[in-house]
Amino acid sequence: MSFPEHNTQIIYLDRNENNYGPAPACLEILNNIDHGLLNWYTRAHEKSTKGELYARLAKDYNLSEDRVVLGYGGEDLLKQVIHCYLGKGETLFVPQFSWWYYKSIADEVEGITVEFPLYPGEEAYHYDVDGLLEMYEQHKPRILFISSPNNPTGNTLSPEELQRVLDKTKEAVVVLDEAYALFKTTDLSYVTEIINSYPNTMVIRTFSKYYALAGLRVGFALIGKGLTRFERFSSRYLGYNRLTEAIALAALDSPQYYADITAKMNADKDMFFEEFSRLPGFKPYRSDANFMLIDMEKSQMAPLKKYLTERGIIIKFMNEKVLNSQLRITIGQQDENRKLMDAIKAYVAVKEAV
Ligand SMILES: Cc1ncc(COP(=O)(O)O)c(C=O)c1O
Repeated sequence: MSFPEHNTQIIYLDRNENNYGPAPACLEILNNIDHGLLNWYTRAHEKSTKGELYARLAKDYNLSEDRVVLGYGGEDLLKQVIHCYLGKGETLFVPQFSWWYYKSIADEVEGITVEFPLYPGEEAYHYDVDGLLEMYEQHKPRILFISSPNNPTGNTLSPEELQRVLDKTKEAVVVLDEAYALFKTTDLSYVTEIINSYPNTMVIRTFSKYYALAGLRVGFALIGKGLTRFERFSSRYLGYNRLTEAIALAALDSPQYYADITAKMNADKDMFFEEFSRLPGFKPYRSDANFMLIDMEKSQMAPLKKYLTERGIIIKFMNEKVLNSQLRITIGQQDENRKLMDAIKAYVAVKEAV
């Protein structure tokens, strides 16, 4: 069976997907599917567990199982947090340049979205922690979203910066969106420390990006003890999608596969950074995620988009209120990245020759 909306002739580098695909062990689950996963509800409760994936994540993060919530991707968990905690007229804090979806879910409940600052440094974007804390005191938001690494700027809060923020924002529900965090580090211990130290905080992660399972739609939240209302709000009496659980477990059992593809992506991030730095009219920013933001001349965006589309390459041309003169490139497989870089260089060469 094929899905015509995904044309295999086209190189898609526009949606922060992971083009290497999931580990072979995930595909083996599908090839040898246990039909019982489909026709029976889970009996995990008889073993005093919410399900095998809940138990596995609890073990990996060294937390009790009631600290783990599964969802239909990070998207679903973010929406649930808003619907659980944000009342009409209450304030949600989001990074100034961030995923448009945050504001859209606050709009669903007639909440007010306020943006806190980020700024471009010499080589990378940074959070303005002082600015954030000053604004926090002024607005006292009900919910604070921090995205680290942030989409589309690719920067992360350092553990020290994070601690400074969490120490001063204890009255809010703090949501750390870490959809891309495993690209930076696979050390999980700081997450455990946050969840144990800050009961008002949750960390949201996903199998979509690092584990290359965006189509499976599975994400999870690790939640502090003060968020029991969210635990009740999101509980699933009949269990979670059992096939999804089995595939996600196979991904967790394949650390070497994912370390290898991440090493290739890191090498290509350096390649993009160096080559865009030398290209007239472009300025790249370093990123901790599987994408990079690159400034370019606004007047060149439409012709470059046309040039790349004609060559079967799709990247994201930013078209936001403030960020509207940038490219966001998803780091694909090595041959795809090479083709993109060569095509952009060829475009610049043709333009300069005119
Ligand atoms: C910052 C951020 N958070 C969360 C998500 C949600 O991912 P998913 O719903 O596939 O887990 C995305 C998707 O692009 C994202 O960019």
